[in-house]
Amino acid sequence: MKIILGPASQELGQKLAQIMKIPVTPVFLKTFPDGESYLRFETESLKNEDVIIVQTTSPPQDQRLLQLMLMADNAKDMEARSITAVVPYFAYSRQDKRFLPGEVFSIKTIINILAGCGVNRIVTVNAHSPSVLKTFKTPVLDLSAIPLLAEYFKTNKLVRDALSLSMGKKAISVAQEADSILHGGYDYISSKRDIATGNVTLENKPLPAKNRDVIIFDDIISSGGTMAKAVKLVKDKGARKIYAACVHPLLMGDSRKKIIENGAEEIIGTDAVPSPVSRVSIAPLLSKVLA
Ligand code: R5P
Repeated sequence: MKIILGPASQELGQKLAQIMKIPVTPVFLKTFPDGESYLRFETESLKNEDVIIVQTTSPPQDQRLLQLMLMADNAKDMEARSITAVVPYFAYSRQDKRFLPGEVFSIKTIINILAGCGVNRIVTVNAHSPSVLKTFKTPVLDLSAIPLLAEYFKTNKLVRDALSLSMGKKAISVAQEADSILHGGYDYISSKRDIATGNVTLENKPLPAKNRDVIIFDDIISSGGTMAKAVKLVKDKGARKIYAACVHPLLMGDSRKKIIENGAEEIIGTDAVPSPVSRVSIAPLLSKVLA
């Protein structure tokens, strides 16, 4: 077994290899002046190897997806026995159906291309819509990093009897997962997205947040708009300390500032997407299913 260190997840790939005690294959990357990627595996053979390619696909997602495709196809040409693509943040997974007539079904197209490049299995973390991932021919394993995030708060004693909140009713299982570690109770923030504009509105529903420490869990923080609104809502309900926790801290633009200005103590994320707030490593989680 060998781990190929995709350029977007080198540190995570190294950690994973250390835990699993398997060798890494570094990848030489060069970006041409016009933006095209040139990649070369620093090994002569992958013949009959079970290969794990680690490459997250956070922004610039199109480039990182293409690099993943190039690496998978290369491993196939080098006669790897099997190819597992570890894609901690799976770009385009929010476009998991045709919401409007004529729209693309992005995640389906991407999985089909990866399969065509020889990928036998995909492992991802807190994908936006886990159920849709089960409908494809290529097996996709979706893991949850929520318990690791909850453990982080517990181990570092950042909160006391914290209320765990999920973003949206559909994600209530996320709050339940966190509560199974934090034991301060759980609930959800009621949110609604306008499918035409993408705007999110939050409903002012009762939440037992007064004088409590609260952690708001979401899979992704991108523009930070949703989390900033949620933090404000909970702050207005008299919460004591509020933390924003997410698996995939994309943190575009001034998202971090926006969330803190609205009253969050801190944002805590994972290294599914390397960022200044990626305090929690998902390497132990990945190692359990890849061994
Ligand atoms: C949405 O369905 C996701 O769970 C996140 O709430 C969303 O992607 C966050 O996006 P933004 O940070 O741009 O509001």
